[in-house]
Amino acid sequence: MKLQDKCPILHFGDLGDERGKLVVIEGAQDIPFEVKRVFYIYDSDSSVIRGQHANRESEFVLINVAGQSKVRITDGKEEVIVELNQPMMGIYIPKMIWKDMYDFSADSVLLVLASTHYDAEEYIRDYDTYIKELKR
Ligand code: TYD
Repeated sequence: MKLQDKCPILHFGDLGDERGKLVVIEGAQDIPFEVKRVFYIYDSDSSVIRGQHANRESEFVLINVAGQSKVRITDGKEEVIVELNQPMMGIYIPKMIWKDMYDFSADSVLLVLASTHYDAEEYIRDYDTYIKELKR
């Protein structure tokens, strides 16, 4: 399967009205998993590269709810760069995809929805190890 099909861009509905915008994300309905963890990244300098890991167990959805950033993903074969710049759009990242987040705008708030509770052991932080595990 192509990397872009493994990691689809998601477009969420806008339930906003004259009072403002409203985006709702229902676990296992608007995204492929039930949400067990939420975290957000902000105040990251534009020169910083975050992520630089793959996850053996976790699936994620990344949404820039404010500002913008880029995410570079690879499955060890293809590479795709996606600019996250709309609160109504996200990217789904399944297990065993290597990801780097970078080019954060000063106002970037990158919201991450995760399918698991945090477990440091399921993070692969070394690229060579990642490639080796893919080949198993
Ligand atoms: P890290 O995974 O390096 O962040 P990023 O993916 O944005 O590059 O996490 C930074 C620190 O925060 C690290 O010590 C692990 C800790 N952490 C948790 O305790 N729980 C979590 O859910 C996350 C994402 C990180």
